[in-house]
Amino acid sequence: MTTSPRFIVHGGAGEWLNFDEDQVLAGVRAAAQAGWDILKVGGSAGDACEKATNILEDHPLFDAGYGSFVNSEGEVEMDALFADGSIRYGAVAAVRRVRYAISLARLVLTKTDNCFFVGDGADQLAASLGVPLIPNIDLVTEKEYALFREREGQRAPRPGLGTGTVGAVALDQSGHMVSATSTGGIPDKKKGRVGDTPIFGAGGYADDVLGGASATGKGENIMRFFLCKLAVDGMRGGTPAQTAARAALNFLATRIPEPNVGIIMVGVDGSLGAMHSTAAMPIAWVDAGGEVQAAMRYQGWFD
Ligand code: GLY
Repeated sequence: MTTSPRFIVHGGAGEWLNFDEDQVLAGVRAAAQAGWDILKVGGSAGDACEKATNILEDHPLFDAGYGSFVNSEGEVEMDALFADGSIRYGAVAAVRRVRYAISLARLVLTKTDNCFFVGDGADQLAASLGVPLIPNIDLVTEKEYALFREREGQRAPRPGLGTGTVGAVALDQSGHMVSATSTGGIPDKKKGRVGDTPIFGAGGYADDVLGGASATGKGENIMRFFLCKLAVDGMRGGTPAQTAARAALNFLATRIPEPNVGIIMVGVDGSLGAMHSTAAMPIAWVDAGGEVQAAMRYQGWFD
């Protein structure tokens, strides 16, 4: 049986203050288009999600790969999760020397018998699998470096969430679901701090029977509630993705004062969902006519 493919990406829930929205939306559009170009000719959900995420990892405006926030020591430490609908995953945390953390996470899934690698060991695994290692500074934009130098020696981290993690969720023609999520974490995080992104069920989740999700925002809130698993389980009984996304964020809001999170979802029924409790969350998706659409903040998406 052939399924109609579905695709959605996000560029991170956050404040998005002082950004050119057209450039941000062009970034998520380009990622969605690249993933869709794979899916619409019968390509796999995994290839579509990896490609779209790589584009956002390469884009300096998004907090993943090149353009990641630096930590309190001025270094980039990245986390990523590649979640497969067969309830298998590959994850990496605090990697410092690869350009594409999501591609390394996928290699963890496809080339090892393990699920999760961290730090130097993850970078060493990358090298052993033929992934080029790069100097950490190559991941730091001039703008981020200047901000770090400005704040060097100050005790308090930059306030707020800034921009955010990137992610993609795809359903392919064979009915297979994948979610990919990649991040540089939060601004001025302490060295070694890891958020929700690489944690299966928190930063991402995929289940071929129900659907998939990718989360973004304040990781410490997402990982306490396994937001993506919570949201995907909310699709049991045929609940559409948008209803499940809203219910999951509403639940968080009943338990903590300022969740500051966002989520994108795809259901096995083809429904799309996206919600955020931050000021903005750029997303792009492919509509029923095969056209890529993009938006910066919630405006009745998929209701
Ligand atoms: N959501 C990404 C992080 O908190 O690291």
